Amino acid sequence: MIRSPLLEKALTGLLKTNNYSFINLKRFPLSMKLSYLATVMLIATACTSSRQETANVIPAMEQTPICESYSEYFKTGTSLNVNQTNGKDSIGAEVAKRHFNTIVAENCMKSAEIHPTENEYNWEDADNFVKFGTDNNMWIVGHCLVWHSQLSPWFCVDEKGENVSPDVLKQRLRDHIHTIVGRYKGKVHAWDVVNETVEDDGSYRKTPFYQILGEEYIPLAFQYAHEADPDAQLIINDYSMSGEKKRERYVQIVNDLKKRGLRVDAIGMQGHNGMDYPDYKEFEKSIEAFAGTGCDVMITELDFTVLPTVVHGAAVENNLEYSQKMNPYADGLTPEIDNQWNDRVAEFMKLLIKHSDKITRVNFWGVNDADSWRNDWPMRGRTDYPLAIDRSWNVKPFVEASLK
Ligand code: XIL
Repeated sequence: MIRSPLLEKALTGLLKTNNYSFINLKRFPLSMKLSYLATVMLIATACTSSRQETANVIPAMEQTPICESYSEYFKTGTSLNVNQTNGKDSIGAEVAKRHFNTIVAENCMKSAEIHPTENEYNWEDADNFVKFGTDNNMWIVGHCLVWHSQLSPWFCVDEKGENVSPDVLKQRLRDHIHTIVGRYKGKVHAWDVVNETVEDDGSYRKTPFYQILGEEYIPLAFQYAHEADPDAQLIINDYSMSGEKKRERYVQIVNDLKKRGLRVDAIGMQGHNGMDYPDYKEFEKSIEAFAGTGCDVMITELDFTVLPTVVHGAAVENNLEYSQKMNPYADGLTPEIDNQWNDRVAEFMKLLIKHSDKITRVNFWGVNDADSWRNDWPMRGRTDYPLAIDRSWNVKPFVEASLK
């Protein structure tokens, strides 16, 4: 075999630039190397132009980072799904890194996912999520420690399926919270400790936690979370927070926690909004009332459906059959509706900017429109446009409009 170090070097370089370093050239004769050179140059040209195309089709990679636009007001974030943190959706991951400085786990830390049976924890996805945030120097939020939805089936019942005793549930809650918060101590900066504990009429939601422990499960959860990581910020979170009854109940809950000397840092207003709700005046009253407790306010799960309203709020158990009539923009938004949507969101962002002395974080519930849960909730299979970045990877005009 004729040795050809120069040719080999040139080819190795080409292969490396095009991510084909796994091909070992030393194993090929000169004639093959020459024909490989020709092939690789073709591939290289094709790859270079396809890379340029990728850059062209992802305008968000050139546009001003959303978190930079709002940097003087609050942290700006997104929820991440598992494909974005395990490398399968590399574009979503890159866009998230560029545009957001805080992240929250969309599903992988919910009890059914992370703690599927009493003696089994599923760490892989949550570890990937935390690593993503740590590697990219982001403010990491864990979601969520106590929630009636996506609740692990074993959590509140015995082998016969009957509710466990208060003592058993306390022990389980303590173990669950200590194990998860403890694992990410010093890495996860804040936790949604209790999620959606109040009904729209202001009463406590009759979750299994409530049935077994009464209201007491709320302070217990905050106590356990603080024990497990004394430096982590602790959040209580819910949807439809503009409602008067919910507002009053949360002010009372947080004041009670504080009176007991428990740590609670922020009230999370999810913000699953639409074109006809919430009423911004009522939303503003809640921001003011929540800040009045001494807590920070966080907008934790922001999205704005443009689709006809089926239900308000965000009760995940709503799951309606598809109806074509309720899916009017399957082929795209009309410019008129697009403008109306951007105006409404810009107005909302202006309200948040006005109260940025109280609001420390604004978090979108997903990176781009295609990722959003609103395509399937409260009705399956619709095409929605609720987030800050569209399906063609463009940052939407409301961001710039809200800064004027
Ligand atoms: C949603 C997720 O986005 C979906 O993927 C999942 O199927 C259901 O839950 N309130 C919350 C979030 O606190 O955890 C919910 O997330 C949306 C409503």
